[in-house]
Amino acid sequence: MQPYVKLFSVTLLWVAAHSVLASTPVEQRIIDEALTPLFGLHRATTSSGKVIPEHQFDKAQVCGACHTDIYREWRSSMMSHAWDDPIYRALLARASKATGGELDSFCTGCHTPTGLVSGKVTTADNQNPPDVHTPETDMPGVDCEACHNINAISGLDNGAYVINDAGTAKLKYGPRQEASSPYHQTAYSELHTDSKMCATCHNVTHPTNGVPVERTYDEWYESPYRQAGIDCQDCHMKGTPGKSAIMGPDRPDRATHWFAGGNTTILEHFGRTENAENARQLLRTSATVELIDSSDLEPGGHAAVTFKVTNTGAGHKLPTGFPEGREVWLDFAVTDADGKQIYRLGQVKDGKTEPGTKNFMVKLGDKDGKKVEVEVWRITHIMSDNRILPKGHAMVDYRFAVPRTAKPPFELRATLHYWPFSQAFADELLGPGEIDVIVETITEFTTTLGEKRAEVAAR
Ligand code: HEC
Ligand code: HEC
Ligand code: HEC
Ligand code: HEC
Ligand code: HEC
Repeated sequence: MQPYVKLFSVTLLWVAAHSVLASTPVEQRIIDEALTPLFGLHRATTSSGKVIPEHQFDKAQVCGACHTDIYREWRSSMMSHAWDDPIYRALLARASKATGGELDSFCTGCHTPTGLVSGKVTTADNQNPPDVHTPETDMPGVDCEACHNINAISGLDNGAYVINDAGTAKLKYGPRQEASSPYHQTAYSELHTDSKMCATCHNVTHPTNGVPVERTYDEWYESPYRQAGIDCQDCHMKGTPGKSAIMGPDRPDRATHWFAGGNTTILEHFGRTENAENARQLLRTSATVELIDSSDLEPGGHAAVTFKVTNTGAGHKLPTGFPEGREVWLDFAVTDADGKQIYRLGQVKDGKTEPGTKNFMVKLGDKDGKKVEVEVWRITHIMSDNRILPKGHAMVDYRFAVPRTAKPPFELRATLHYWPFSQAFADELLGPGEIDVIVETITEFTTTLGEKRAEVAAR
């Protein structure tokens, strides 16, 4: 059968791509312009080599008529909001205007794949973001048709997926050999069961200078999770008992489509409370904080405290993805017996984590060696990256003076936080206070030190 033949050659392509991967550091892979004949700087292609007319794609609601549970889950995911996400639209408008439309297809190919390959999305769409509170519904985000028409990939980044042009025949690619539907043809696709399915969009490379902007797939690829055969789908599309379509059979492990990640802010903004809660649960599995070492906390003396932060649950760096925004940090506070705070570092001040905060984040730099906070297209290099590797850890040291008047015992509290981007970043893009950025708590560590000293003092 034809799909099998295709898949076989795709597999060969993959074996080849992976041997390249093994020998070249991932950072040095630069996109091959020859592979982008159709959509400018974006690597998406179609099997026919032509634009696919919009009417060949169904709206997600049509698929949702039968795939009810999958539709409900997907609809409340960030990928369904990949186009109307106000933070995205504001940055897209800036990128488009700053580059005279040159970046348009690059951004849209990942944030509205069917919008790009059908030629529906225009420069005017890109440059005119909607009101923050009334999102558009006409243009899809990353929808059913985007993922279930993909039948091959030509690379590992920048949207190097191939969308099958089935003409009038409806042919959907999925993970099961024996699925059959009254509405469309189905074809088994091994790709859909593999992390490579996600690689094309979850590896972003600067389209002209090759700087690795986002590397979620590569981070996973180099992690113990790949060695253990644990794919993106195993954590982000966990199987659950149920039906994949209302008239289909019961399945013990129907793939869920919540795609929960870390971004609770945009989900809450759109009223997707249930999935924001899924994301919160996932965040709480991602890391632990332990106290590793502490000097005596002596009034009038100097204290040294060391924490260990371990990435226990994320199959990639913690945090991963969108580098201008994603930030994980420790807020550390020490209080004495009278409840007086004697030390604190890691508070949010003026919409940002305060200077000196012990955080995990990427810093991007421009050609003058200056830090780039917003306009990612201007970057020429990664200045620093101290995010925590999958199953890896980081040591965090604090040194501070204990006031003479402080009363033992002391309570130490270290809280590990996450936000998808700072309040200052959101305010810069959308105007002050348009979106409330949520500070999530991944985990908290508390302990009391200096109890003996307190007892001695009381006697
Ligand atoms: C009239 C009902 C109906 C509609 C509409 C429908 N499907 Fe299906 N689809 C089914 C049934 C039934 C199955 C088989 C389910 C099973 O075996 O568990 C199926 C299977 C699938 C599969 C294969 C899954 C696998 O296990 O490999 C995919 C992918 C799929 N549909 C995607 C879509 C997409 C995308 C749309 C919208 C363009 C859509 N479907 C519209 C009924 C429908
Ligand atoms: C980001 C890509 C993506 C999007 C968007 C997406 N899917 Fe899927 N879908 C997948 C992948 C990957 C699998 C296979 C997961 C696995 O095997 O663990 C899958 C599995 C399925 C299955 C088979 C489930 C099973 O376990 O039998 C159906 C049916 C399906 N999707 C329909 C849809 C419909 C309908 C939509 C839109 C409402 C949709 N998908 C949106 C990637 C996607
Ligand atoms: C066609 C491109 C595309 C493909 C393929 C794709 N994604 Fe995404 N994904 C996106 C975009 C774009 C966003 C971000 C949308 C936004 O934040 O505005 C996203 C967001 C997500 C998020 C939410 C991130 C957060 O911060 O909360 C998760 C989780 C995710 N994707 C997982 C997956 C997995 C797993 C796969 C493979 C089965 C996959 N994606 C395949 C484009 C894609
Ligand atoms: C072992 C489970 C696991 C695997 C495997 C895994 N993830 Fe995640 N993922 C998580 C957890 C936990 C989080 C929340 C913590 C975080 O933000 O990193 C997360 C967050 C994310 C986010 C949101 C990023 C952020 O920091 O805001 C994206 C996007 C994502 N994952 C995509 C992927 C993709 C793509 C793959 C495969 C290449 C993958 N994940 C593999 C567990 C996993
Ligand atoms: C190769 C695919 C790809 C391309 C190209 C791409 N993005 Fe994204 N974008 C993603 C993915 C995947 C995420 C989600 C990562 C995460 O959750 O951390 C994302 C996240 C974002 C976010 C964060 C949204 C939020 O709510 O946190 C913004 C803003 C954004 N992209 C803007 C852009 C702009 C502007 C361009 C063009 C200059 C662009 N993207 C090009 C895949 C892409």
